[in-house]
Amino acid sequence: MADSKIQAWKFLKIIVFTFFITVLLLFTSATIRTLSLDVNVGLQLARWEKSNNISLVIDQHQREELLAKFKEALRIPTVSFSERESNTTALRQFVTFLRKAFPTVFSSSLVHHELVADYSHLFQVQGSQPDLVPYLLLAHIDVVPARESDGWEAPPFSAQEMDGFIYARGTIDDKCAVMGILQALEYLLLRGYAPRRGFYIGLGHDEEISGFNGAMNIVRLMKDRGVKLSFVLDEGLAVLDGVISGLDGPVALIGVSEKGSANVKLSVSMAPGHSSMPPRESSIGILAAAVKRLEDNPMPRLFGYGPERDTFEHLAHKFGLPLKFIMSNLWLFSPLLGRVLEMKPDTNAFVRTTTAVTMFNAGTKSNIIPSLAEATVNLRIHSAHSLQEVLDFIQDTVGDQRVKVELIDGFDPLPISSSDEQSFGFQIIKKTVLDMFPKLTVAPGICVGNTDSRHFKDLSSDIYRFAPVWFKPGDVQRFHGINERISKKNYEELIVFYFNLIQNCDIKKLPDPHSSVHEL
Ligand SMILES: *[C@@H]1O[C@H](CO)[C@@H](O)[C@H](O)[C@H]1NC(C)=O
Ligand SMILES: *[C@@H]1O[C@H](CO)[C@@H](O)[C@H](O)[C@H]1NC(C)=O
Ligand SMILES: [Zn+2]
Repeated sequence: MADSKIQAWKFLKIIVFTFFITVLLLFTSATIRTLSLDVNVGLQLARWEKSNNISLVIDQHQREELLAKFKEALRIPTVSFSERESNTTALRQFVTFLRKAFPTVFSSSLVHHELVADYSHLFQVQGSQPDLVPYLLLAHIDVVPARESDGWEAPPFSAQEMDGFIYARGTIDDKCAVMGILQALEYLLLRGYAPRRGFYIGLGHDEEISGFNGAMNIVRLMKDRGVKLSFVLDEGLAVLDGVISGLDGPVALIGVSEKGSANVKLSVSMAPGHSSMPPRESSIGILAAAVKRLEDNPMPRLFGYGPERDTFEHLAHKFGLPLKFIMSNLWLFSPLLGRVLEMKPDTNAFVRTTTAVTMFNAGTKSNIIPSLAEATVNLRIHSAHSLQEVLDFIQDTVGDQRVKVELIDGFDPLPISSSDEQSFGFQIIKKTVLDMFPKLTVAPGICVGNTDSRHFKDLSSDIYRFAPVWFKPGDVQRFHGINERISKKNYEELIVFYFNLIQNCDIKKLPDPHSSVHEL
């Protein structure tokens, strides 16, 4: 008896001791990670061979000219109204406008231009060294609708200036890139620049309605020609300044992936009846219950299993304690952080596949029990989920044979592009950004929306979504919202960014990575 008591006591001591040592080890290791995760950007930058020789100096006359062209682009209402309806008059006008605005681009012997699907463009800029794998800059010409009566401070297609900002639909999505890229190329060609690495510029005309005509036909052309791309740079993420609470200083997030997406139709079909003799359950009641079950049972929390993990680890050193400690140690804290993030809708989007019920239709008359009730659910799929898994989850959650679940359209999350020290595209973009804005933190990020670049995934494994557009608090709501605007200074910065980026791409290969100090 006494013997076994001693045994038990010894056993308990071992347990307590082991637990204590484990906690100590975890804590030490966590602290080391917290202290060592500072990404020393200066070190790496110093090792770059200077590849861009021409720096862009813009005088007052050029400034007025480039702004006038930008405003002219914004005043052409290239609206995609719906899946089937675009303003083709405006799109045609835009083609004529581009030819006039960038005469050197359209006449240079280095540039081959073709119109794709009537309103989209593919430019091929020839490089002097054909062994260097080309890249692609993407942007889109169309915009979402805008009505002044929604509360715009200036008419949405007026491109009016106020306090150093230009107000118009398309200023940040995405005519700043369309015009910024072409203006940069125009300036480079005018200065006699001939790239070593060839590249392409693709401008879609129907991105806002999925790019089925523009981007997809550009892809088809490039595939037919056997083109392979070193990387693709499209719109998507931006510079966030004061937008992420708790983060010290502005951060440039370069999108390395996009969530997947699906539209699912739920429907219940029953024999119609008169409201004077109602059945116990109606199609509306059955469908409503199914929808409620979907809302009550969100998809599983997947924080830490997608690229969002990398984002937080890159940003960790810019947060104060205790967030810094938590984010440096996601191996330990990701369940905790996931729970915090899911509390707000905007951060919840990073944590899981989101479920949004967007349409609900049934009934035509007040005294008829409708035979058919339908609802549409829009899902944005987390990187660690597949479309099929999401459909299975919905089927299980609905759990009622009378509710038919149909996929209308959808696609898997996009693959995750590289962002390490060997990653050509990522490092070129990062270098170009840091040369212009040395105080920025650069981190990989995830797009919760979709872009034309998703159609290019067979042409390159490295797709990035970024432009150095500065977002301050409140600006994110301007995207597809009212009072979309960009500062004149920021538009000029975009031109400089593409001007330098094109030259930086002329580097043969990246400098050797410095011996990594922050790998544990
Ligand atoms: C940059 O300038 C140097 C020296 O002036 C020259 O050797 C080099 O070829 C130039 N590089 C480019 C990309 O023009
Ligand atoms: C379409 O674009 C044309 C030409 O720019 C413009 O005059 C017209 O008002 C636009 N139509 C609509 C419905 O917005
Ligand atoms: Zn866009």
